[in-house]
Amino acid sequence: MCGIIGYCGEKSAAPIVLEGLKRLEYRGYDSAGIASLCDGRLLMKKDVGKIDEVNQKHNLGSLLGNTAIGHTRWATHGGVTQDNAHPHCDCKREIFVVHNGIIENHQPLRHRLERKYSFVSETDSEVIPHLIREFMDMGSSLEQAVCQAVKELRGSYAILAISASEPQKIVAARKDSPLVVGIGSGESFVASDVLSFLKHTNRVIFVEDGEIVSLNNDKVTIHDGEGRQIPREPQKVDWKWSGATKQGYEFFMRKEIMEQPWAMRCALMQDRGLIMEAAMDILRTRQVVLTGCGTSRHAALIGRYLFSKVGGKFSDVIMGSEFHHFSDSIHKDTLVIAVSQSGETADILEGVKKAKANGATILSIVNVVGSSLARLSDKVVYLNCGPEIGVAATKSFVSELVIFYLLAFAMINQLREGMRAIKSLSLLTRKNLNHNGAISPELAQGLKGKNDFYYIARGINFATAMEAALKAKEIAYVHAEGMPAGELKHGTLALIEQKTPVIAICPADYTFEETMSNVAEAKARGAFIIGVSDRNEESFDEWLKIPTVEEVFYPLVSIVPLQLLAYDLAVAKGLDPDKPRNLAKSVTVK
Ligand code: AGP
Repeated sequence: MCGIIGYCGEKSAAPIVLEGLKRLEYRGYDSAGIASLCDGRLLMKKDVGKIDEVNQKHNLGSLLGNTAIGHTRWATHGGVTQDNAHPHCDCKREIFVVHNGIIENHQPLRHRLERKYSFVSETDSEVIPHLIREFMDMGSSLEQAVCQAVKELRGSYAILAISASEPQKIVAARKDSPLVVGIGSGESFVASDVLSFLKHTNRVIFVEDGEIVSLNNDKVTIHDGEGRQIPREPQKVDWKWSGATKQGYEFFMRKEIMEQPWAMRCALMQDRGLIMEAAMDILRTRQVVLTGCGTSRHAALIGRYLFSKVGGKFSDVIMGSEFHHFSDSIHKDTLVIAVSQSGETADILEGVKKAKANGATILSIVNVVGSSLARLSDKVVYLNCGPEIGVAATKSFVSELVIFYLLAFAMINQLREGMRAIKSLSLLTRKNLNHNGAISPELAQGLKGKNDFYYIARGINFATAMEAALKAKEIAYVHAEGMPAGELKHGTLALIEQKTPVIAICPADYTFEETMSNVAEAKARGAFIIGVSDRNEESFDEWLKIPTVEEVFYPLVSIVPLQLLAYDLAVAKGLDPDKPRNLAKSVTVK
């Protein structure tokens, strides 16, 4: 996970890298550091803490020089300590490296290198500067040494390296971790994502696995592992820098929840031909398998119901981290629909690569343009919802749902009607946000002392229960379970005590009566019932009112009050919903 960024140009590099690191903080935030090159000397500052904390202590932006690299960490190997923070260097402090990924063979490499060099950290990453040192001592240039070093690495990496002997140069390499180059005028950038340098340029080159990139002001050269130059034209990305700012909101998550009506309309901006083709693929292909992780898997679960309920097509959902274990059953008659906001989730990429190797066709539903998943896929449908910075996915979830509605309606040749319905739902979503936004803070205050929450629903609404529970877990740090309401009596009911919150998602649809029976069972054991419905019931201790919509659309409206409740619970508990502990936005490790 971790975020990396490098700058090479005429301006003072450290302030630009520092600003970029703040944009990358969603990828990890337990420690941070910057190294710069100034008059042939290498300077470095790093420490434990969020970027603002490290900056307050060390004034990272004050490092001199026109070339710099930076890192924000999400610890995998080695605890959260100053020594384990990046950048890491060789023994002579002449080569500095930042790394995102995991070096799987770091132990044997370390044992060998420790005979020559002394290590100061517990990280897997520290082998990289020592390996580069070894090759440079044998006469290699920085670029050649990086190329030789990565041949010895197993695992995943995006690496940036600078050397005192080659001023004004950054060498970068990647395998299975994202890396993108930005071309400005007289300056260049290289980072884990476009957002970190979007303020300066939107002309980008996506680096592919196995490529080695050399940046020297605005001169960027790309080579393959054998040293052959690869010509590549930059492409433009049309995300706006303002999309990555809070625009007056206290937290990104709040802003992103409030943006959902707009996000729904943006998700409608699709090439209709592409949606129709994808829908035909779903209908024609013998086996349709959906995959995703976390929130994106919950969207896929709702997609599965839509394909069945609207399009009459059975499909299955396999969670991203387990998907590759099913590769034996994935073949050329399989359509894999991979759902991912970031398009960089390692668990998804691994399964998709195996499926592709087995001959499956890949359709992806992705937000980040040019992401690894998008580039691996045969067809890509983009969410178009702009950058999502809050670690908890919100607007990307509703956008993913919109794409599933479009596909399902296209399957029955009613794409236009589906689009029209979602457009009017976006207006209702605004009202839904305003109504529940006003009552949720008080409800959260009353619930902030509770540690266990159970979310129940049936049919198409059950994945909404799972998604709402995930939101509460990750940002409010409570034990929350989402489950099909009918499952409650098969075990979990034993956990219901006096005043245990049970959140019942029970719109007035085909699931209502059966879910209400389960509500009664919980109520009889003393549960505190919060009903999410367009119909108020006596058994509800609290009512989160949602608008009445056509049955299939309830997931789109019932998630809204529950996103707000999770957010308000986090705020009531004094937590930072944008940066929950131990998590990161883009999970690029397995
Ligand atoms: C959602 O709130 C989570 N932070 C997480 O579960 C996320 O949805 C998951 O990691 C998948 O990410 P992706 O959509 O970028 O692949």
